[in-house]
Amino acid sequence: MGSFPVVVLVTLWVWAEGSADSHLSLGKTFGQSNKDSRCQHMLKHLHNGARITVQMPPHVEGHWVSTSCEVRPGPEFLTRSYRFYPNNTFQAHQFYYEDNHCIKPTYTLVSHGRLRLRQASWIVRGGTEADYQLHRVQIVYHTATVAKELTQRLNYSCRGAVRGPWEPGVIYELWNEEGGHDCSKELNFTMHELQLLRVEKQYLLHNPDHLVEELFLGDIHTEPSQRLYYKPSSYQNPLQNAKNHDHSCIACRIIYRSDEFHPPILPPRADPTVGLYGQWVSQHCEVRPEVLFLTRHFIFHDNNHTWEGHYYHYSDPTCKHPTFTIYAQGRYSRGLHSTRVMGGTDFVFKVNHMRVTPMDFTTTSLLNVFSGNECGVQGSWQVGVEQDVTLTNGCVALGIRLPHTEYELFRMEQDAHGHYLLYNGQRPSDGTSPDRPEKRATSYQMPLIQCSSSSQRSDHSREEEESLLLYSSDSPGWHRSFHKYIALAIVTALLCF
Ligand SMILES: *[C@@H]1O[C@H](CO)[C@@H](O)[C@H](O)[C@H]1NC(C)=O
Ligand SMILES: *[C@@H]1O[C@H](CO)[C@@H](O)[C@H](O)[C@H]1NC(C)=O
Ligand SMILES: *[C@@H]1O[C@H](CO)[C@@H](O)[C@H](O)[C@H]1NC(C)=O
Ligand SMILES: *[C@@H]1O[C@H](CO)[C@@H](O)[C@H](O)[C@H]1NC(C)=O
Repeated sequence: MGSFPVVVLVTLWVWAEGSADSHLSLGKTFGQSNKDSRCQHMLKHLHNGARITVQMPPHVEGHWVSTSCEVRPGPEFLTRSYRFYPNNTFQAHQFYYEDNHCIKPTYTLVSHGRLRLRQASWIVRGGTEADYQLHRVQIVYHTATVAKELTQRLNYSCRGAVRGPWEPGVIYELWNEEGGHDCSKELNFTMHELQLLRVEKQYLLHNPDHLVEELFLGDIHTEPSQRLYYKPSSYQNPLQNAKNHDHSCIACRIIYRSDEFHPPILPPRADPTVGLYGQWVSQHCEVRPEVLFLTRHFIFHDNNHTWEGHYYHYSDPTCKHPTFTIYAQGRYSRGLHSTRVMGGTDFVFKVNHMRVTPMDFTTTSLLNVFSGNECGVQGSWQVGVEQDVTLTNGCVALGIRLPHTEYELFRMEQDAHGHYLLYNGQRPSDGTSPDRPEKRATSYQMPLIQCSSSSQRSDHSREEEESLLLYSSDSPGWHRSFHKYIALAIVTALLCF
């Protein structure tokens, strides 16, 4: 599949233990490896020892399913089951629900089409661009109420093409390449997520014989009215290959066995009360729209409602080459259960203090270019040296103005192994920040995992930064050519909570 001149197989070995990792051996030199807190350890060894292989170009052939009930901006609750065939066609099932646990199905959309892989993405390093063409879009309703309500709405947008009231359990055509009408418009339906793909294979540490394959597809614009025009610039939560999935994924099996007449019904579960305490870290190298790769580490002090956040930014999709680090600190207050997003809880976050550390030459030069005292002391930035930018009210170069307020949405969940996961709101796709209540998110970012139930750091932050700095010194000069992209990244960095 695809038109790649060469097949490049990038293999990344991410070790949890072992001296093969230069970072770890440097840590040992500093005599800190056994004092390292669990949170810092998890961040440095993101994949918990899994061996990750990224396929370029990606082999998407196969059957891929959601690993849980997903939330899209709106909000929309759904599960996905996508099949890609050897003849480059696909069949995609999207099962929609009225609840945040995906227990009450409302309708299912089935789309058929053709996918053509293009080139490695220049917008999102490590991703592959693709084109798709739809052949047909169909719908099945799962309740009489939804059938009645949607029939009317769709009939309006497709100019009366709907004949007779539509019934649940029957498949209807919303659009096909021959027909004149388009009844899918009302739903703002697109498959633009197929325009950006990435496949990762990994062998799990606790079960090295077991292969898990993940398919990352493009993100969905946070503003529903922009969906039809948006080209993805980051990813949604990955789908897993139904043949090679994590065996603890019960949802995977249920979704795999479903079809448009038997939509998946996931097991009911409780919504744990969101308790912001302890420490939380990223589980993956995360991607933000416009070329930002980062990991996050949050510390919440529930005794006095203050928080600290570390944002480690990188230039590459495996989070190996640091560009800059932000430390932010402030207060937060809990709001009520969200009235818009079932299962969510509103919060307000304030940032009062901030420190910035450029981690590579490019970022340091860019920070030094900015004149005036709008980001620390003018012209004084050095690689690996942290500066407090609170006195200059933040950092214009990074698009950050202090004090800063954000309207947040959170939810919590327990994973199959009983670990707590914390989801916070998706950042607006237009690069702005949710600084007004009406800009509060209606969907979530990739979850953070709890790494400590205590907010007390076993404070080795200085050593941690020193070792990060040394780590960065082994990064080759390849990223110079990404000057432009890094500049863009900095301008759009804003506050990436
Ligand atoms: C492609 O393959 C699928 C599955 O084998 C089949 O259902 C479909 O008809 C094929 N499409 C074309 C255009 O050949
Ligand atoms: C769809 O709209 C047309 C004209 O607007 C109307 O005649 C028809 O009854 C409608 N169909 C349904 C099922 O509501
Ligand atoms: C579809 O997009 C339009 C604007 O283009 C918007 O007004 C409408 O609310 C959207 N519909 C849904 C179901 O999100
Ligand atoms: C809040 O509490 C934490 C931990 O108890 C402490 O480290 C921090 O300094 C306190 N912050 C403020 C602003 O009082």
